[in-house]
Amino acid sequence: MFEDLVGHFEKTRDRRILDLFADDQRVNDFSITLGDVLFDFSRINIDPEALDLLCDLAAKVDLNKKRQDMFSGVHINRTEDRAVLHTALRRPETDSLIVDGIDVVPGVHDTLRRMAAFCDDVREGRFQGQGGAITDVINIGIGGSDLGPDVACQALAPYHDGPKTHFVSNIDSADITETLGGLNPETTLVIVASKSFTTFETMLNARTTMNWMGQVVENPRAQFVAISSALEETEAFGISEDRVFGFENWVGGRYSIWGPIGLSLMLAVGPDDFAEFLAGGHDMDRHFCTAEWRKNIPVMMALVGIWHSQVCGHATRAVIPYDNRMARLPAYLQQLEMESNGKRVDMDGNPVDYHTGPVVWGEPGTNGQHAFFQLIHQGTRIVPCEFLIAARGHEPELHHHHQAVIANCLAQAEALMKGRSREQAREMLRAQGVEGDALERLARHREFPGNRPSVTLAYPQLTPRMLGRIIALYEHRVFVEGVILGINSFDQWGVELGKELAKSLLNAVSEHRPSRSAGPGTQNILSFLREFDPD
Ligand code: F6P
Repeated sequence: MFEDLVGHFEKTRDRRILDLFADDQRVNDFSITLGDVLFDFSRINIDPEALDLLCDLAAKVDLNKKRQDMFSGVHINRTEDRAVLHTALRRPETDSLIVDGIDVVPGVHDTLRRMAAFCDDVREGRFQGQGGAITDVINIGIGGSDLGPDVACQALAPYHDGPKTHFVSNIDSADITETLGGLNPETTLVIVASKSFTTFETMLNARTTMNWMGQVVENPRAQFVAISSALEETEAFGISEDRVFGFENWVGGRYSIWGPIGLSLMLAVGPDDFAEFLAGGHDMDRHFCTAEWRKNIPVMMALVGIWHSQVCGHATRAVIPYDNRMARLPAYLQQLEMESNGKRVDMDGNPVDYHTGPVVWGEPGTNGQHAFFQLIHQGTRIVPCEFLIAARGHEPELHHHHQAVIANCLAQAEALMKGRSREQAREMLRAQGVEGDALERLARHREFPGNRPSVTLAYPQLTPRMLGRIIALYEHRVFVEGVILGINSFDQWGVELGKELAKSLLNAVSEHRPSRSAGPGTQNILSFLREFDPD
């Protein structure tokens, strides 16, 4: 599938990215401006011919038709026979979208209104805990029922004017203990967020929290709300129907921040800012659906991803937000991208003979610079980097900090591309008074090969609307890459096996007996652990 592209890459792999700028149109041709968002992909080893080939590939897989299928509610998640319509959650009320004979937009807005009314009640003190106004909200969920609201709540901290939000996801007792430790059960609201309402981690944490609250308040259930599409399960858990916010099965877990799973965000920032966040997502949807491919940020970002991962063979990509409040973005993208595109068979179940989605990882700048950037600059592996940078922070009185953030972000991209030659290293050392053998030896360590690719997403400020655009952008990038790879980006069968084995091992662990099905390596570790915890 990628033969022509690989052939082109083989011919051009040794050229210098810097030399591509001899074409003075390069910055224009290899960057896209969408209103106040800039996506620059000029500093990678790609040329117009490669872009043509990538666009041919997108045409060959019928990208426009597939995009239309997703937006119109065709059941493109074929293994679960489901439509994929998270984009419907951010459609304006004036839109209509008939899916399986029903207009889904009014239902979306009814739910948003219910969420907004509840949030207003909490934020304005009409809904109270058993000891007074709600001061804290705990979102108990995992995966898509945690990462989306968590990243968004952190990212939009300057807009918080509601109760304080906390996130518990891990089954490890440390997570729930550390969160509950600082809270007052009488003024805490608990959101149990689980699409299925059967996820082991979430249900265990929810029960532990219910017990914690029940020791102090008379009716803990009254301070619980549920977000789920499994209404029978929420009822069985004892959460009254008017405290349940449901969503349809056409919203995948990792794409669900736009609806009820975003309740914690709405509680924190208020319904108006949440509406702005949705509007940002919708801005990106319109751009994705209407802009020609060469001027379409999600499409170009995906083609760059395919170029680096499938064509150049770079197995990972680093996402480095120069925005500390986006610290959870890499974790969020790990689920979004790797649960979506970490597949080994095509839509028909045939094994693919190419690599699918890359490993995604990262940390905020500038911290990453003092940790793993050594490898990115001088290691033997190439790691394409994606930088995110805002023009302004939210602390005008500390503007000089933000200026330093910008300088560092720009410096990294520049250093990655330009590098430093051996001769430049020698000159630098000579100026420091180093001579002779030491000069030559040290110059080798101080040389940077450069020619390392990075792209940059720049925007004025991390507002609710901008965050909506950014998250929707990544969703669509994942979609386009998945279409080109010919895989189903919307199921996640790969998470099942481990869950099943954990269930049977839990019996062995709690009943103090060897597992009937586990192999000798597992038995060995099990008996070692038991020795140190005979209880
Ligand atoms: O185990 C993976 C997964 O199903 C994710 O896809 C999902 O986001 C997460 O678990 C949580 O699922 P739920 O919202 O049903 O609790």
